[in-house]
Amino acid sequence: MAMHAVQYDSYGSGSAGLKHVEVPVPTPKKDEVLVKVEATSINPLTGKFRRACFVHFFLPSFLLFLIAVALCFMFFTSPISTKCLKTIDVGGEVVEVGSNVKRFKAGDKVVAMLNALNGGGSAEYAVANESLTVPRLAEVSAAEGAGLIVAGLTALQALVNHSEVKLNGTGPRKNILFTAASGGVGHYAVQLAKLGNTHVTATCGVRNIDLVKSLGADEVLDYNTPEGAALKSPSGQKYDAVIHCTTGIPWSTFEPNLSSSGNVIDITPAVCAMWTFAVKKLTFSKKQLVPLVLILKKENLELIVGLVKEGKLKTVIDSKFPLSKAEDAWSKSIDGHATGKIIVEP
Ligand SMILES: NC(=O)c1ccc[n+]([C@@H]2O[C@H](COP(=O)([O-])OP(=O)(O)OC[C@H]3O[C@@H](n4cnc5c(N)ncnc54)[C@H](OP(=O)(O)O)[C@@H]3O)[C@@H](O)[C@H]2O)c1
Repeated sequence: MAMHAVQYDSYGSGSAGLKHVEVPVPTPKKDEVLVKVEATSINPLTGKFRRACFVHFFLPSFLLFLIAVALCFMFFTSPISTKCLKTIDVGGEVVEVGSNVKRFKAGDKVVAMLNALNGGGSAEYAVANESLTVPRLAEVSAAEGAGLIVAGLTALQALVNHSEVKLNGTGPRKNILFTAASGGVGHYAVQLAKLGNTHVTATCGVRNIDLVKSLGADEVLDYNTPEGAALKSPSGQKYDAVIHCTTGIPWSTFEPNLSSSGNVIDITPAVCAMWTFAVKKLTFSKKQLVPLVLILKKENLELIVGLVKEGKLKTVIDSKFPLSKAEDAWSKSIDGHATGKIIVEP
């Protein structure tokens, strides 16, 4: 059986390099489920890879460089189906299961993280490993679920693993700054932080100030003002942690705003950030820069899907595009001005 999919045939051509094709519906292996895709979300990371920003994005650290080499190897040696856009966040319905799959059957609504190397979410059907698939509760739409995966898990990891925030509200009070709180990661991070014992300062553009306040931020700075650019808390708070979700802010701007042992959790580490990371480590500085690389975990996805069901977390949807207009969704993501998540619906 054939399906509609969006693929790319060359690097460096932005959304213009995408093409619409008919390809065979993938067959699930024994540990996989075949999902009829109802929604997939776009992450800027994929756009960067697509635009071949190797020098800007992958050079920063040896670790990331090795990952890039592995990705390139997988890409150039993979069958054509892996050229499907590397969207890995999918919400949909199981239509077939592999012989070893125990937890799902045809008809189950799910949220699934696709293989990060192959992607394939920008298609009518996609295969996902059972171990990275979770039930989608009735209260969670396919689009809400698809938005959650990379962005929501990054936000959760930054807070819980790197900033020691406990989502049940216990634990010491933390003052946290979020940059780009209106974006995919930032808007989840603000909401999750407010489940914990935190004071939240957030930056965003002026058009999103009311939205970010409504997500729970205690103080909001317009990043286009001098105060916003300086990241200074209006009430004079020093930050125990900064969850840094944009680019182009040097350590020298963060440093005076940190508490005596404050950390910057950088989800977009560039060359300078990796240098700072190394220097701070080697000098045993109390203030550290921590580069974040997302580790996908099923139990974390179950946790955040559950929070959406309970009404404690919501996906702000910037825009929805049909699969036939996937290139427009891609352009929008590359522009870097989404408010919340961009969704593609086959
Ligand atoms: N390390 C990892 O594993 C990992 C995981 C996920 C994402 N990431 C990376 O994290 C970054 C953020 O991802 P995302 O999905 O949140 O991005 P996004 O949704 O594209 O972010 C867009 C938002 O950022 C705002 N923004 C842009 N520049 C800003 C600035 N200087 N200060 C404050 N706000 C600013 C924009 O507001 P305006 O429209 O008003 O400008 C817009 O609302 C990306 O670079 C992505 O690749 C890394």
